[in-house]
Amino acid sequence: MFKPSQRLATLPTPATIAMAARARELKAQGKPVISLALGQPDFPSPAAALDGAVAEVKAGHTGYPPIPGQKPLLEAIAEKFRRDNGLEVSLDQLMVCNGGKQAIFNAFMASLDEGDEVIVPAPYWVSYPLIARMFGGVPVEVACREEDGFRPQAEAIRKVITPRTRWLVLNFPNNPTGAILERADLEAIAAVLRDAPHVMVMSDEIYEHLTFDGRHHLSLLNVAPDLADRILIINGMSKAYAMTGWRVGFACGPVPLIKAMIKVQGNTTSGICTLAQGGSVAALQEDIAGVRAMRETYERRRALVVGALRQIQGLSCAIPQGAFYAYPGLSALIGKKSAGGRVLNDDVAFAEALLEEAHVATVPGSAFGYGPHLRLSFAASDAELEEACQRLATFVQGITD
Ligand SMILES: Cc1ncc(COP(=O)(O)O)c(C=O)c1O
Repeated sequence: MFKPSQRLATLPTPATIAMAARARELKAQGKPVISLALGQPDFPSPAAALDGAVAEVKAGHTGYPPIPGQKPLLEAIAEKFRRDNGLEVSLDQLMVCNGGKQAIFNAFMASLDEGDEVIVPAPYWVSYPLIARMFGGVPVEVACREEDGFRPQAEAIRKVITPRTRWLVLNFPNNPTGAILERADLEAIAAVLRDAPHVMVMSDEIYEHLTFDGRHHLSLLNVAPDLADRILIINGMSKAYAMTGWRVGFACGPVPLIKAMIKVQGNTTSGICTLAQGGSVAALQEDIAGVRAMRETYERRRALVVGALRQIQGLSCAIPQGAFYAYPGLSALIGKKSAGGRVLNDDVAFAEALLEEAHVATVPGSAFGYGPHLRLSFAASDAELEEACQRLATFVQGITD
């Protein structure tokens, strides 16, 4: 009989996936569910990507691809780093993975031993601590404060570094808060890292193009090139290029680490689907105007959602500077009762009640290590966003002491 391994048995299902699954169930029962739970762009993938994939098949590239990635894609990624980040990287510093998620998996599997610590500023994307735990890693949370714009403070990071620390994870623009790091933040963090030469940095920059109010993403590697042999950049096609289903991510890091990650991938999934790689080359080589147009749409929707949330008494909502999530705080409503009679003991109960009673799927902030908040994705149509905010307003109005 099947018995899950101890490591897997203690691993919770990510709340993002659990909420999306419950939303699907309700939808199948005919309920008018609006799901703002997943980080899924609602745009079609670029036409160039489709053409690139077709060209790849027609060229007969249907055999096993090289494990680190096909050369044209590695070259297009190197050019992306030059064009978008002003960084010169060699092809042996790069690898293509089955989404950014596999790049994270590869890195942790390649580097973690039982009991090694991984510092994760909270709120964090759910997968970092979960994947670290799969390899015996111990996530160490550093709470960012809302009054600091959800940016981790360098001294708070310094305090939790121990001889067992292997990684510091940075994810900016951040999922779920949309926070962005300024040059001064990165310089302060770099100074801490210079005092801790055993610590590697995983810099997940998958939302780099989704920044608002004229802000631009800056990479730690731009600010601290002297730390190049300790910085692993994670990125991919999913968010900026609306290519979540193509499963193409990439990593850029020091050669020995990339070599170890290639070894992991060679023993798990091997190289990435050739069609998806062909499509990704075409998308990366295309003018970046398409990415800009999507960013402008997200910026407009951000105003719509944050404006509506700020009208709701009991919610507080900071303005996200990037990505496509709003992260309103719920503390004034916790402990009260919904119109349907549910006690809103925490943000999980709140999100469940909102889904069951108002049919709006969101993710509770505690899933990201920082509650009581809700994460609402604004990667949805204007009509859906307006309706979801209206339902949330009515739901909150119905809450009693
Ligand atoms: C912060 C962050 N990193 C990485 C990923 C992984 O994306 P993918 O595996 O689709 O490239 C996601 C997806 O939600 C994300 O939010």
